[in-house]
Amino acid sequence: MSRVVVTGGAGRLGRSVVAVLAAAGHEVTSFDQGHVDGLPATQVSVDLIDPQATADAFAAVRPDSVVHLAAIAVPGALPDPEMFRVNTQLVWSVLEAALAAGAEKLLLASSPTVMGYGSPGGWEPKYLPLDEEHPTAPWNGYGTSKVAMEQIVQMAVRQHGSRMRFGTFRPCFVISPEEWLGGPTQQGHTLEERLADPSLAAVSLFNYIDARDAGEFVDAWLARANDVPNGSTFFVSAPDALYDGETADGIREHVPAAARAAERLTGTQAAFSSARAEALLGWRASRLWRDCLVRAGESS
Ligand SMILES: NC(=O)c1ccc[n+]([C@@H]2O[C@H](COP(=O)([O-])OP(=O)(O)OC[C@H]3O[C@@H](n4cnc5c(N)ncnc54)[C@H](O)[C@@H]3O)[C@@H](O)[C@H]2O)c1
Repeated sequence: MSRVVVTGGAGRLGRSVVAVLAAAGHEVTSFDQGHVDGLPATQVSVDLIDPQATADAFAAVRPDSVVHLAAIAVPGALPDPEMFRVNTQLVWSVLEAALAAGAEKLLLASSPTVMGYGSPGGWEPKYLPLDEEHPTAPWNGYGTSKVAMEQIVQMAVRQHGSRMRFGTFRPCFVISPEEWLGGPTQQGHTLEERLADPSLAAVSLFNYIDARDAGEFVDAWLARANDVPNGSTFFVSAPDALYDGETADGIREHVPAAARAAERLTGTQAAFSSARAEALLGWRASRLWRDCLVRAGESS
């Protein structure tokens, strides 16, 4: 059994990550300002912006591995300078504290927004499906904080790669289990509303991932981190698009600038590829919206 700290363990993604890791036999501690009842983890209340408080919390637990999810997770929730400052400060606090506490692995949540879709200046993908080789082009404080995170990780690999394994992952639009049953998504609307009005999901090319699938990705990375290139980045996407039709048709209608690139997509294929995670970690998302969604009036 290994000791794992999950920062942001009380959040939308964190709750499922904690549940999957605990079920897999890890001893999980959540570091979060918030608290949720019934989480299968020791919950420690800490403001991770504070480097000393963060260092003290890590020193008390001495985890083998750290999964850093805590962030301001909604683009636009803060002005750009504040968003960038908070999210990057959280990365520095956790990196320094994890190193000082002797952790051996650190995985951090980046975001597909690093691609730059939705840019008011216009955005056209070089190709689809997007993979980890596609250039980044963030256009707001949130996406830029995630690119900075990925660069901080590359820096950490150069400094500390001989004694610690690092990774980043870009989870697509996270859907927690209760959202399949009609609970509000991160954007406030329900999944049925998101499907009924494709313009809501079109900006992010209809991407999504079930939070439990993302949790299983984290578990797979923890198991295989020593076998994959240090500092690897992974897209974590469902294999299909959150669109009720063929993906290329939805993109053609709602994201015209990406229409030409979308010609390479077949059927309901996602516009984001998780082929690297499948090849290197043996992970593939298994929960598809067509199987999971319970529409109003249906029983689960
Ligand atoms: N939800 C998505 O669709 C999505 C998509 C891509 C990437 N991500 C990334 O995944 C991670 C988790 O996202 P989420 O949707 O679960 O977000 P969330 O807001 O539901 O959870 C984030 C958690 O971090 C905690 N937190 C924030 N600041 C803190 C601080 N200073 N000290 C301690 N705890 C703090 C919050 O209390 C919260 O529980 C984030 O890094 C986010 O950027 C999320």
